[in-house]
Amino acid sequence: MIERQLWHPVVASLQVRDAPLACTLLGEPLVLWREPRHEGEAGRVHAWADRCPHRGAQLSLGRVLLHVRGARLECPYHGWQLAGDEAAAQDAPVSVGRCVHVPADPAFVPPVGHSATVFEAQERYGLVWVRLSPPGPELPGPLNEVPLFEQGSDRAWRQVLCGPYGLQTSAPRLVENFLDLSHFGFVHEGWLGERSHAQVQTGQVLEQAEGLIASDCRAWQPRAYAGASACGTEGAWVAYRYAVPHPFAAVLRKDAALGDPVSNAIALFIRPDTDQSCTAWFAMATLGDSASDEALRAFQDAVFAQDRPVVESQMPKRLPIGRERPASEVHSPADRMSGAYRRYLSRLGISLGVT
Ligand code: FES
Ligand SMILES: [Fe+2]
Repeated sequence: MIERQLWHPVVASLQVRDAPLACTLLGEPLVLWREPRHEGEAGRVHAWADRCPHRGAQLSLGRVLLHVRGARLECPYHGWQLAGDEAAAQDAPVSVGRCVHVPADPAFVPPVGHSATVFEAQERYGLVWVRLSPPGPELPGPLNEVPLFEQGSDRAWRQVLCGPYGLQTSAPRLVENFLDLSHFGFVHEGWLGERSHAQVQTGQVLEQAEGLIASDCRAWQPRAYAGASACGTEGAWVAYRYAVPHPFAAVLRKDAALGDPVSNAIALFIRPDTDQSCTAWFAMATLGDSASDEALRAFQDAVFAQDRPVVESQMPKRLPIGRERPASEVHSPADRMSGAYRRYLSRLGISLGVT
């Protein structure tokens, strides 16, 4: 399954604190745990299969220990200790996930096979990302750079994470909704669009192997600029740029323009839970917006609450990407970006959440 070779967000970084945390990715139960802080730095996050190699107990019910050699995860059942990053220990470094102590027989030296299943994990954009299998050659890299969302990448840009939003539809349906300008005047009337100004410009769509880019997309907005601090009373055409760097992620960018001092970028990151359900976050990066973080989150929550009933109503919940005959959905020229997105999923061989 090609989806196992992609990086996926699983939880917000801030959620992984002192205690192990259970979560599920693509049907795989995981335990996430963080090594204790070291010299002021947040400790490394680990993502392992949530199953003790001894008798199968759930490791997420255990606890994190700080041993002199390094951080360990202790199983809740017989207290076996599984190593975090003990490579720094000078004598006999052990691999991550390996059992290093069996309390019932302290003299026993567990062999290599006495190890938890370890997955790759990294923290980006305020989220913990996990990859279940090593990458296949034809897939995009870990996650294409979205530099504005990197903490501290550019101090002028403020980062705000919104979500998680659990949704009863597939990840591709949600990405397509995010790329769709022509619903603004109806679903977000008075907020992001006007029904009397429903016409959109779909701009240029560039289809590259590593993702999609759409520039010069324009929609009419009822207020001079959109955002929690929208204050203008006159409508205007607003230009957007979209990128799809990953099958289940998309980024929208709007630059400051005449009469509109705010630049912002919003990245949609999705954890595909099942074929027909997912969990989403919006990572926002804004420049020149005086609204508080709370106001930005409240705005995003309100916009998402407008999308939710419509997106959850779409049938089938899996996105038709053109493989079925006869085709189950029809298109208009305004759907150019959605057509490109469907072809992109098909090209990558995505099977989760599509039909
Ligand atoms: S099941 Fe984990 S220590 Fe026995
Ligand atoms: Fe929407």
